[in-house]
Amino acid sequence: MAHPLQIRAEVLAVQSVGAYQQVLLRAPGVAARVRPGHFAALAVGGEDSSMLRRRAFWIHRADPAVETVSLVIVERGRGTRELLRTRVGGTVDLVAPLGTAFPQPAGPMTALFVADGYGSAPLFALAELIAAQGGAVGFILGAATAEHLFGVDAARALTADVLVTTDDGSAGIKGRATLPLAEAIKAIGAEAVYSCGPREMLQAVTAVATAEGARSFCAVEQGMACGVGACMSCVLPVVGEDGISRFVRSCVDGPCFDGARVRWTDVGTIPTDLDGAAAMGVH
Ligand code: FES
Repeated sequence: MAHPLQIRAEVLAVQSVGAYQQVLLRAPGVAARVRPGHFAALAVGGEDSSMLRRRAFWIHRADPAVETVSLVIVERGRGTRELLRTRVGGTVDLVAPLGTAFPQPAGPMTALFVADGYGSAPLFALAELIAAQGGAVGFILGAATAEHLFGVDAARALTADVLVTTDDGSAGIKGRATLPLAEAIKAIGAEAVYSCGPREMLQAVTAVATAEGARSFCAVEQGMACGVGACMSCVLPVVGEDGISRFVRSCVDGPCFDGARVRWTDVGTIPTDLDGAAAMGVH
C-alpha cells in the first residue's frame, strides 16, 4: 500500500476532455509517491457538508518535478458536481496516493493495455515506463460512445498498436473492448494485459488473456466508502498465494490485482470455502 498524505491541494487547471474533466492539482510531497494504479480520495462539499464520504479518482499523471498530480473526474452526482465547482486557484482536500499499484516489470516486456472509458487514466504512466525500458506496448481503448473514450491521442503518440472500440460504433470497431482482445494479444505477442474498467470487462479480459497465455493485471473500479481500509465496503474474494480464498479490500490490497486470483464469479456472494466464511454465518 502507498503511504498517503492528506493535504490541501491547489487546483491549477481544469480541462474538459470529452465526457470528462481533467483536474491538475499542486500536491507537494504526493507526486513522488505515486505509482501507476494508485488512486486519490477527495473530500466533497466543504467542512460543514453532510457528504462525509470522500470520492475516489484514478491518478492519471504525477510529475514530481513540479509537484503536480492530475485526476480524471466524471460528474456523477452532487458530490462530483460540487467538486467540479472548485475554481482554478481554489483548494481541495486530497488524500493520496492510495492503494496498491500495478506490479512494475523489471525489464523489457510486451504489454497490452485495455480500458473502458476513463479506465485508461491510470494505465498510461505504466505503458510509458514499459516503453522507456525498451519494451513494446499496445492499447485497446473502448467506451460506450466516442465522447466517452479517454486518451486515444496519448496512446497513438506512444505506439502504432492502438485499437478503438465503441458500443454504438461512433468511433473505431463497434463492440466491446474485449472483442478484438485475443487477436491483439497474438498480434503483438503480449506477455501481460493490464486493464481497468467495469468488473465484467476485467473478468472477460482475464479469461481471454489467460487462454492466450498472458498474465492479467486488473485495476478494479470497486465502490469505496472510506478508501483507507476501515469500512470493508470494497471487498473482493481473492485466492491468496497460499491457495486460500479471502475477502481482501480493494482500497488497500488493490485496486490492482492479479486478475487470475480474483474469484470474479463469486463477487457479491460469500463463498462457503472462503477463509472466515463460518464467522460470517455461512456453513
Ligand atoms: Fe473502506 Fe475499502 S473503501 S475498506
